[in-house]
Amino acid sequence: MYRTHTCGCLRADDVNRTVTLAGWVQKVRNLGAMTFIDLRDRYGITQIVVEEHSPAEARETACKLGREWVVQVTGKVVERSSKNPKMATGDIEVAAEKVVVLHEAEVPPFTIEETSDGGDDLRMKYRYLDLRRPPLQRNMILRHKMAQEIRRFLDSEGFLEIETPYLVNSTPEGARDFVVPSRMSPNQFYALPQSPQTLKQLLMVAGYDKYFQIVRCFRDEDLRADRQPEFTQVDIEASFITPEDIYNLVEGLLKRVYKEALDVDIPTPFPRMTWKEAMDQYGSDKPERRFSMKLTDVSSIFENSGFKVFASAVQNGGVVKAINAKGFGTASVGQIDTLTKTAVEAGAKGLAYIKVREDDWRSPISKFLSEEEKQKLTEALDIETGDLILFAAGPWEPSCDILGRVRLQCAEFMELLKDNKERDFLWVIEFPLLGWDEEEQRWAAIHHPFTRPVKEDEEKLLKGELSADLRAQAYDVVLNGTELGGGSIRIHERDLQSAMFKALGITEEQAREQFGHILDAFSFGAPPHGGLALGLDRLVMMICDAESIREVIAFPKNNRGVDLMSDSPAPAEERQLRD
Ligand code: AMO
Ligand code: AMP
Repeated sequence: MYRTHTCGCLRADDVNRTVTLAGWVQKVRNLGAMTFIDLRDRYGITQIVVEEHSPAEARETACKLGREWVVQVTGKVVERSSKNPKMATGDIEVAAEKVVVLHEAEVPPFTIEETSDGGDDLRMKYRYLDLRRPPLQRNMILRHKMAQEIRRFLDSEGFLEIETPYLVNSTPEGARDFVVPSRMSPNQFYALPQSPQTLKQLLMVAGYDKYFQIVRCFRDEDLRADRQPEFTQVDIEASFITPEDIYNLVEGLLKRVYKEALDVDIPTPFPRMTWKEAMDQYGSDKPERRFSMKLTDVSSIFENSGFKVFASAVQNGGVVKAINAKGFGTASVGQIDTLTKTAVEAGAKGLAYIKVREDDWRSPISKFLSEEEKQKLTEALDIETGDLILFAAGPWEPSCDILGRVRLQCAEFMELLKDNKERDFLWVIEFPLLGWDEEEQRWAAIHHPFTRPVKEDEEKLLKGELSADLRAQAYDVVLNGTELGGGSIRIHERDLQSAMFKALGITEEQAREQFGHILDAFSFGAPPHGGLALGLDRLVMMICDAESIREVIAFPKNNRGVDLMSDSPAPAEERQLRD
C-alpha cells in the first residue's frame, strides 16, 4: 500500500496511530537536530518531523530532500507542541520512522504554494506544476462538484444527457469556425461546433423532449478574460415549453449549484429587465447593477444648444446621454484620457466631460453651455460640487453602448466594486431579433438564426419587413455584469425558418446546402421548443471569484490562442498535409 491516509485528513484523534503518507515536498526546514518537512497532496499539507532519535536512514534521506520531490513517509501521529490553527492538520505532525524517495525533482521554476512568484507565461508553460497549487486545485475540485450537481439536478428534472458529434457541418453562433479537413473526402471539411445548437433542435424533432449536455464548444474569436477558443456549455433544450419554464429551470439549477458549492441561498425568481431598458439605463445588454450611475437622457436640454455636436445629435433623431460619476471630479488627466480612449474605441468621436468645481465647471464644452442649460443639467443629474459628468451624443444605441463602457471604466477608477460581495442575478429579455451589420451591409441575427421572433413580429419576418425593432423570444441570464448564459424559443416551422435565412441574406441555395437537413426536419412534425446554454467556465469563474477564465480550466490557452505548455498550434507534417 502506498499510503494509508492523505495529507489533509489527520487530526488530534489520530494521535498514536502509525500512518503512511505519500506526496510532494513543499518545504524542508533543517534545524540541525530536527528536520521539518511540509508534505503536500491535493487534500492538504501535513508536517513531518524527523528528530535526532529517528532511525538514521530516515534522517539521512530527509537531509537530501528538495522541493517537489515525491516521497513516502511512514511514522507515528503525534500531538504538536506548537499548534498551527491555520492548518486543518495543524494539531498534529507525523514523526517519521521511514522516508522513501519515490521520485526526485528538478528545482521547480517557481514556488508552488498558495501564491506563486512565477509570471503568467512561465506558469502556463509548466501548467502541471501550477495545477499543484492549492488555489487551482480548489477551483478544479469546485468545478467537478458543480458539474456533478448540475447533472444530478437536470437528471432529477427528467433531462437526458445525450452526446452530439464534434465533427459536423458549421453550426453558426456568430464566430468563426475551426475547420478540419477530411482525408477520406478530398477538399471537404468538417467544422467543430460553435455549439450543438442545430443538433439539439434535431433531438427535439426526434422526440427527446428534455435534453442536456455538458459539452465543449469551439469558436475562433478574439480572446478576453472570460473567453476561450474552446469552452464548456451546460447546453439545455426542451419541447413544449415557454420562456417561463426555462427561467424556472435555470433559476432552480443555479440555486442548487450555489447552495452546494458555496452554501449560499440565492433569491429567486431573478428580476427581469428588457434589453431596451438595460441599454437605456446601463448602456449594456449585461448590466452591472451593483452600483447606480445610471445613464440619463438629457436630449431635451440640448435640442437648440449652442454646442452644435449635441444639438445636431438631437436634431438628427439621436440622443444626448449623460452619467454623473459622483465625487469623481478629482479624475486625473490620465484617467480622463483613458475614459476618452474607452469611448473612442467603442466608436465615439470624443468624450465631452465636465468637472464640477466650487467656482466653475471645468470642461472643454462649458463655454458653449448657457446658464439655463447648466441649471437644467444640474437638476436632471443631481449635480453637486466635486462631480464628474460624462456625455455621449449620437444615435441611441451606439451612444448608450459608449457611455455604458465609460460607466464601467469610471466605476473601476472609483473602486465602486471593491469588497462588494453582492450577487445580482438578472434576466435580460426581449432582445432584438436582428442587428444591422455595417461591415457586411446586411442584417445579422442577434442571438442566432434559429431564434423565434415574438408573436406580433412573425408576420413582419415572413413578409420581409425587416428592422432593428423586430423583437426576439430571446433571453440572457446575467450575473454582476457578466453574461452567464443565453437562449431562446426557436423557430420550428420550415416557412418561418426560410424567411429568417432570407432575412440574413442567405440565398435559398446556401440555405439548402448548409441547413437543408434542418428545413427538412421541420417539415416532419417538429414540436415547439426552446432552450438555453450556460457558460460553465464562466459560472465556475464567478463561484471561485477568479479573475480569469484560465483559472478554472485545467489546460487553457493564452490570449493569443496558444498553449504554451505543448506549443500548439504547431506546423503540420508534410504527410499529414498531403493526407
Ligand atoms: P451563446 O452563444 O450565448 O448561446 O453561448 C452561451 C454561453 O456560453 C458562454 N460562452 C463562452 N464562454 C467562454 N468562452 C467563449 N468563447 C464563450 N462563448 C460563449 C457564455 C454564453 O452566455 N446555442 C446557444 C444557446 C441556446 O440558444 O440555447 C449559444 O451557444 O456564458
Ligand atoms: P469639439 O467641439 O468637436 O472639439 O468637441 C468638444 C468636446 O465634445 C470634446 O471634448 C469632444 O471629445 C466631445 N465630443 C465630440 N463629439 C461627441 C459626441 N458625439 N458625444 C460626446 N462627446 C463628444
